[in-house]
Amino acid sequence: MVPFFAKQAQADEALPAAYVKAAADTKREDRYLDFSLISKTYPTPNGPLTVVDGFDLKMKKGEFVSLIGHSGCGKSTVLSMAAGLQDVSLGAVILDNRQVHEAGPDRAVVFQAPSLVPWLTAEQNVALGVDRVYPDASRAERQDVVHYYLNRVGLGDAVKKYAAELSNGMKQRVGLARASALSPKLLLLDEPFGMLDSLTRWALQEVLMEVWTRTEVTAVCVTHDVDEAILLADRVVMMTNGPNARVGRIVEIDIPRPRTRQALLDHPRYYEYREAILGFLDEFEHGAVGKTETAKAGHGKALEAAA
Ligand SMILES: Nc1ncnc2c1ncn2[C@@H]1O[C@H](COP(=O)(O)OP(=O)(O)O)[C@@H](O)[C@H]1O
Ligand SMILES: [Mg+2]
Repeated sequence: MVPFFAKQAQADEALPAAYVKAAADTKREDRYLDFSLISKTYPTPNGPLTVVDGFDLKMKKGEFVSLIGHSGCGKSTVLSMAAGLQDVSLGAVILDNRQVHEAGPDRAVVFQAPSLVPWLTAEQNVALGVDRVYPDASRAERQDVVHYYLNRVGLGDAVKKYAAELSNGMKQRVGLARASALSPKLLLLDEPFGMLDSLTRWALQEVLMEVWTRTEVTAVCVTHDVDEAILLADRVVMMTNGPNARVGRIVEIDIPRPRTRQALLDHPRYYEYREAILGFLDEFEHGAVGKTETAKAGHGKALEAAA
């Protein structure tokens, strides 16, 4: 007889039937990560509020997507559902053919400010995660992983520095090294450079691209910086304004890699991409319904009031 907890585990592993049916139309390699019509409803004092409503996006393995949208539209909500830090109200997030139910070491998250242990060194902070993910590796092998990634993010000379002694930019480098060293299936970044000055931000964008090029990890990076979105991504995914936010438009960035900021500025298509994204953001400046749609419908006020 199968013990009840094993049955439960099996039930959790099984993909939702509706998903299996819908996914049959998409090639498996095109949906390594699948946000399958996900919605998030929060309870509020004024009743349930559906912040994200039918967000649908399929990503290939190794793809880098920038997720952009106005503040408060639900970007962090989408990211945290992929991380398993929040429940999905409707739909499912599927990673490598398994449904995401909770946070796990196969998904690494980088937030605006990395939560490092201040009294541990850079090296020890990265080692914390590595020791858990590679329990069978020898001490020396784990040490190699730690140093490899600290070198990649340009902290080779600062491995013995205490986290408390590091600048914000250096802390975020440790955060990137720590996330990458876990060899996650999915790297999730939520406005990772939002708190840094522009020079530091540019340096860190290059660090991220360098690490990503080497690891080819599937990544989603939330940003509200149009240039950052284009520089980093294979596709820029634009979200409509909330409530009921979803994917509004997707722009494929056909600019060769490795990219540099200068090469980007010199690329003829760069301005076209920029216009498209800025145009979309402007369209959705004031609500869930685009300006043109509102005008076409001829009852903009009513729609705004409903939104
Ligand atoms: N726990 C929560 N309860 C109720 N509302 C929330 C909660 N978390 C976020 N929200 C609301 O959901 C919307 C989207 O938030 P968020 O995902 O943080 O947006 P973004 O990251 O795009 O700025 C906002 O209106 C926010 O106020
Ligand atoms: Mg956010």
